[in-house]
Amino acid sequence: MRGLGVELVRERSAWIRGGVVIAGMVLGVLLLWPLPGAEANSCIDCHKTLADPSHVKHSFLEWEQSVHAKKQVTCNSCHGGDPAKAEKKEAHAGVLNSNNPKSRVFYQTIPKTCGTCHEQYQAFQKSRHYMMLQKTGKGPNCATCHGAMATKVLSLKEMQETCNLCHPKPYQAYEVIAIIRKTALSLSLLKDALGAAKQAGSPVAVAEAELGRAQADLSLAKQAWHTFHIKEVFVKGISAYEHAQAAKNELDRVKTPKASP
Ligand code: HEC
Ligand code: HEC
Ligand code: HEC
Ligand code: HEC
Ligand code: HEC
Repeated sequence: MRGLGVELVRERSAWIRGGVVIAGMVLGVLLLWPLPGAEANSCIDCHKTLADPSHVKHSFLEWEQSVHAKKQVTCNSCHGGDPAKAEKKEAHAGVLNSNNPKSRVFYQTIPKTCGTCHEQYQAFQKSRHYMMLQKTGKGPNCATCHGAMATKVLSLKEMQETCNLCHPKPYQAYEVIAIIRKTALSLSLLKDALGAAKQAGSPVAVAEAELGRAQADLSLAKQAWHTFHIKEVFVKGISAYEHAQAAKNELDRVKTPKASP
């Protein structure tokens, strides 16, 4: 038994090694291939050759593997500087260490920098978190919750650990996020079901209207999330959930029974 197990493991790892080599070759080709629309960027060209200094908060690799890299959000998008200059000194004009209050990545300035692209900044400015960040430095900024490379959307478990760094677990906030995520999932399933029911000729107008209301409330809940006014988010989230339920019940009701053979 044991021997067989070992054999299987060997065989599997040979497969995996083979797979990794092939995947590596494919990836290598892809990486050498310039991305469409990618422009020459001296930050990337130079930094990919450097060992990350020890004080670095995120590595080059983390950037390279991030959603930001895939969408061509490059070093200069967050750090400033001039990516058209090949000389380090010229390229670094305006690039300041995050300890410097004038840096674009100084902890109190991070929200504004992210806000050049992300609308979440509008809601966040209304939050007690933002107020405390500016007033006492004790509120979280975007990178506190999204990681130094800032593209992580926390799982529920990671969220509990993160929130708990500063205060007792905000249970209602967890509940809200769970409702938002669950509703988002059921909406995508319901859309498919609605499409199918429509094709089958069922009367779907009422279900469609409910689905529309659910979608609208879900958007409002998501927009309100970064205010951290949890009650407000909760009310919208629950309302979205209830409209989704109503849409589901209505779809179940109008579904045409299978025609007898
Ligand atoms: C020719 C090489 C070169 C180019 C081009 C370059 N860098 Fe650097 N960069 C370095 C080196 C080397 C360091 C290590 C610290 C030092 O010597 O300043 C560094 C450090 C940094 C740091 C850390 C600064 C600190 O105070 O800790 C940031 C942020 C940075 N670079 C961003 C950029 C951005 C953004 C660009 C493009 C606009 C860029 N770099 C272009 C070589 C380069
Ligand atoms: C989405 C925004 C974003 C992008 C893109 C980004 N960084 Fe950063 N980087 C940050 C933030 C924010 C910090 C400060 C981390 C903290 O406070 O936790 C930081 C910190 C650093 C540091 C440590 C020095 C310091 O000032 O604290 C270096 C070095 C660095 N980044 C280099 C780079 C390089 C090189 C690239 C491109 C390959 C890059 N960054 C891309 C946001 C970004
Ligand atoms: C130059 C514009 C730009 C800047 C600056 C920027 N981002 Fe992004 N960010 C994007 C784009 C584009 C995406 C890809 C997803 C999308 O299209 O929304 C993205 C994705 C993300 C995601 C993942 C969203 C998801 O659904 O998976 C998070 C989280 C995020 N950014 C946070 C940040 C934070 C925090 C900062 C500041 C440290 C920041 N971003 C700075 C443009 C930017
Ligand atoms: C206290 C923690 C916290 C802070 C601070 C925070 N976020 Fe978030 N953010 C979250 C959580 C949790 C989610 C996931 C919400 C969800 O599941 O709908 C999220 C979602 C996001 C998303 C993805 C939205 C989506 O629908 O996929 C982006 C982009 C984002 N945040 C950007 C930012 C930016 C920019 C800032 C700063 C201005 C910021 N966040 C500050 C916790 C935080
Ligand atoms: C870096 C510290 C820090 C982190 C991390 C943090 N918070 Fe907070 N939070 C604060 C501070 C400070 C306050 C303001 C407390 C006060 O009013 O005195 C606050 C207040 C709140 C409030 C009350 C808001 C209001 O309008 O009264 C909620 C809700 C909240 N946090 C949720 C969260 C959630 C959810 C997370 C994790 C995703 C989180 N916090 C992570 C520091 C933090």
